[in-house]
Amino acid sequence: MITVKTTRELDLMREVGRVVAGILEAVGKHVKPGVTTEELDRIAEDYVLSQNAKPAFKGYGYDKRNLFPATICLSIDEQVVHGIPGPRKIEEGQLVSVDVGAIKNGYYGDAARTYAVGKISEEKMKLMEVTEKALALGIENAVAGNHIEDISQAVQEYVEANGFSVVRDLVGHGIGTKLHEDPPVPNYGKKGKGPLLRPGMTLAIEPMVNAGTYRVYTARDGWTVYTSDGKPSAHFENTVAITDGKPEILTASNLKGH
Ligand code: CO
Repeated sequence: MITVKTTRELDLMREVGRVVAGILEAVGKHVKPGVTTEELDRIAEDYVLSQNAKPAFKGYGYDKRNLFPATICLSIDEQVVHGIPGPRKIEEGQLVSVDVGAIKNGYYGDAARTYAVGKISEEKMKLMEVTEKALALGIENAVAGNHIEDISQAVQEYVEANGFSVVRDLVGHGIGTKLHEDPPVPNYGKKGKGPLLRPGMTLAIEPMVNAGTYRVYTARDGWTVYTSDGKPSAHFENTVAITDGKPEILTASNLKGH
């Protein structure tokens, strides 16, 4: 069931969206060579708690014996999404994606950015830029009267025209009083298909773009998703509200992803 939010609910979605954007800004400043991924997670957790909000990913999962243990997902280079923070140090030349969710007053926000660490290869730079632009094009299509797959097609077309591929196994999602609500928001599809968009719907749109094959696999830790060919991947995500006019980005941040 796709929920349509009231104006009061949208205010709460805006509030948690600002918290999520703030987390990304706080973490983004520290994505530099030498910092460990668990230090970045600590920065995120301190920030979210300081905003009277809670991490949305910590304790999330279907397998009760292996719930996600951290505030952020941190995924480097050929890691696509859902990387678990730990003692690994960030290094020059890496493409680092940070994904974070928060809950405040019963409502969720969810967003991701990919950062370049120092000087990165041309391929990685193009991958990052194409993924960010694909998200922007997807969001442009998140308007009342369109269908979900108008978003999907816009993302897929742009990514593939640039020689990259969109991940199939993971998709965006509705969001609100749950982190994952209907409808799924795939990054591949055909204009005019899927549910009709109406004002008050809130979506997490999140292209995951691979430099090589779209195929991915999940590591033995049960979380980290890798590209099957070991080539790099990038991820950008925003929580967006469908309005009577232009889409409203609820997790817009000041700092660019790079
Ligand atoms: Co998401």
